[in-house]
Order: sequence, then C-alpha cells, then structure tokens
Amino acid sequence: MEVVIGTTVIALAHAEGAIFAIDGICAHQGGPLGKARLEGCQLTCPWHGWQYDLATGKQLLSRTIAQRVFSTRVVGDTIQVRLPPIG
Ligand code: FES
Repeated sequence: MEVVIGTTVIALAHAEGAIFAIDGICAHQGGPLGKARLEGCQLTCPWHGWQYDLATGKQLLSRTIAQRVFSTRVVGDTIQVRLPPIG
C-alpha cells in the first residue's frame, strides 16, 4: 500500500512475516510502488516492471540502482516508519 508521510511517499508491504517500507516513487519514471505487485520480498512496479528487493531497495537487474528503504516497527496496532531527519 502507499502511504504519504509529510512529503515522502512510501510503499509499505507485509512480506515473509515482516513489514517493509521503501521509497514509493519508482527510480525509473516515478511509478507508484505502493501499487506494485508483491511476490515474496520482490516488488514489481506497475508501470514498466522494474523489480526491487524490499529488504535492500536494490533494483534486481541493475544492482547499482536502489530505492531508499526505511526501518519499521509495530507498536500495538500501529506501524511506525523511521524517516531520516528533515534538513
Ligand atoms: S516507472 Fe517504474 S518501471 Fe517504469
């Protein structure tokens, strides 16, 4: 799913027993990774099919391309995402 925190768009996914948060704007042409297909820990962008590893953010064909990933934790019924400091 896609969530927006401030000005940051995040794709949030539950995969293989963990919650992952990755930059929700695809590095290719800005596709919505919050609407990507999820298979295991692999996310496929709905626009042109670039694929990313949820845990590392790395694009699967060109490992030099990577989305930012953010740490998450679950507190009660809430998913918390750690974003870098602003500024
Ligand atoms: S915008 Fe994501 S693959 Fe093209």
